[in-house]
Amino acid sequence: MAQSVKGMRDLFGAELRWFQHIEETARRCFERHGYREIRTPILEELEVFKRSVGDSSDIVKKEMYDFEDKGGRHVVMRPENTAGVVRAAIQHKLLTSSDPVLFYYIGPQFRYERMQTGRYRQFWQIGAESFGVASPESDAESLVMLYDFLRELGLAKLTFSLNSVGTPESRPAFQAAFRAFFAARQERFCGDCHRRIEENPLRVLDCKVPTCQAALEGHPLISDFLDEGSLRHHARLKELLSELGVPFTEDPRLVRGLDYYTKTAFEVLSGDIGAQSAILGGGRYDLLVKHLGGPDVPAFGWAIGLDRLAMVLQQVRGEAPQTPPALLIPLGERAATEALKLARDLWKAGVALQLETRGGALKKALASANRLGIQTVLILGDGELDAGTVTVKHMATGEQESWPLSEVSKRLGGLSLD
Ligand code: HAM
Repeated sequence: MAQSVKGMRDLFGAELRWFQHIEETARRCFERHGYREIRTPILEELEVFKRSVGDSSDIVKKEMYDFEDKGGRHVVMRPENTAGVVRAAIQHKLLTSSDPVLFYYIGPQFRYERMQTGRYRQFWQIGAESFGVASPESDAESLVMLYDFLRELGLAKLTFSLNSVGTPESRPAFQAAFRAFFAARQERFCGDCHRRIEENPLRVLDCKVPTCQAALEGHPLISDFLDEGSLRHHARLKELLSELGVPFTEDPRLVRGLDYYTKTAFEVLSGDIGAQSAILGGGRYDLLVKHLGGPDVPAFGWAIGLDRLAMVLQQVRGEAPQTPPALLIPLGERAATEALKLARDLWKAGVALQLETRGGALKKALASANRLGIQTVLILGDGELDAGTVTVKHMATGEQESWPLSEVSKRLGGLSLD
């Protein structure tokens, strides 16, 4: 029997209901802040990621699904969405005025990664990117939107982990100190780290090999080499987050595995799914738009791993909130015709209703209603039709009552039928 590709899974049932609930909440929260949706293609040209996420990052080096298409183009199934959003914003000249531009996205991403709990090769992200404002107030606006969104979903035990990775002005001094540190203990690092120290010393910090992690003990911290502007930005952001009651801790070791960050870098950790793991990450990337050929426009953003967020919520809150539809069961052919007409009117009035179309015994239909968790069952037979009513069975109590047909829509929360 055919199986789904390793690391890629089908979404349905309880897990998908969490996805849908998170997505609906996200749209509501983000639109409230003035963010608008953007959808970019899954395939992008290789250069888009090499020039943004970075040539020396693990994502580009090891994890991309890339191939030549039939026209000989080297394309990549996007491993993340920020680069694509920036590419689209430049291509369509969306960043040419001085107005801020606010986008969010929801979609699948692809990384050829080692399998772990909550880690997949096709996974989903919800992200928000804000373009055009360099101020720490812009970081704070985005972070408070994120925090309130997570709170609205019902998460309380979250840790915002915050750092500043500075700007190109602060990098050379840090890199020199880091290279000297590395040189003094180079035999303890793996081959990959020797490559990384040449290409981009910061990426040595991403190495997952335990002996390399041990050798990094006491390494120079980028936060000790920050330029004046980065320091001021960071101090002001911390002040704003304190004022807004967004809880955070400082993590001077946090650098993130993507190359485009400047100044603020952050992650949110959740301890609810075994080992502490990041359910989201992001930061400021003031140089990326220009670097990809666009205008000199600063930016800030983040992306949430939807798979992990859904997993945490399922553990913390159980079933996703949902209102099951009512079920309309006709008895006999005449009622079947009338039930279709009634159901159509109810759907038009906005009522959530499932229609039993199998015919057959009432008992069988009621058993289905039980299995589906349906609370309200409407029964329509010849007797009801003659009386202009419907019999309503409340599944939780077993109680039955009779409603006039003209009242059904209103009583099920829909518009009036007349
Ligand atoms: P990232 O840290 O690479 O950042 O990914 C963000 C989140 O996506 C992670 O925290 C994690 O929850 C989820 N994620 C990543 N890989 C996997 C996987 N294999 N399986 C399940 N979930 C995964 C970015 O992608 C940046 N584009 C974020 C950003 C937006 N920065 C600025 N704007």
